[in-house]
Amino acid sequence: MATVTSSATPSAAKPLITFAQLQEHTSKDNLWILLHRKVYDVTKFVDEHPGGDEVMLAEKGRDASEAFEDVGHSDEARSLLDAMLVGDFDTNGPLKVKSIPAATSIGVERPQQGSILPYLIPLAFIIAYTAYRMSA
Ligand code: HEM
Repeated sequence: MATVTSSATPSAAKPLITFAQLQEHTSKDNLWILLHRKVYDVTKFVDEHPGGDEVMLAEKGRDASEAFEDVGHSDEARSLLDAMLVGDFDTNGPLKVKSIPAATSIGVERPQQGSILPYLIPLAFIIAYTAYRMSA
């Protein structure tokens, strides 16, 4: 039954996508991907995906957030998502979505721990030796 509630909830411009609906879009020419509780229509993008179509198809009908974040997608990749948004995922359905941080630190190099100790020890030795030679 269609219950139109657009006047009651102004923010409901995008529909709530159920698990059943997600599962209706699982072929390469009709593919939806669930990422961070949002559903995206990637049908037009799947052929251009730099990671290939197979990895995307492998995430059909389920929560792709973990696979997406494991790759460490760039901000540019994330910026493509908006244009493909279908709607929010209905989290009250049978598919439980995990909460994964949108940008993990996986693969992000830490700045070097700038320790000067390895330089300090030989320097102290040189100073001590010079002082010894000068006093001798
Ligand atoms: C709508 C969702 C997605 C978009 C918009 C997207 C976009 C992109 C973009 C732009 C790149 C190039 C590198 C970068 O900018 O980060 C990329 C690479 C990649 N993507 Fe995705 N991606 C999506 C979903 C996925 C999913 C679900 C997987 C599953 C594992 C995946 C796997 C990969 C892999 C493995 C690469 C690396 C390719 C390489 O460097 O050889 N992507 N993706």
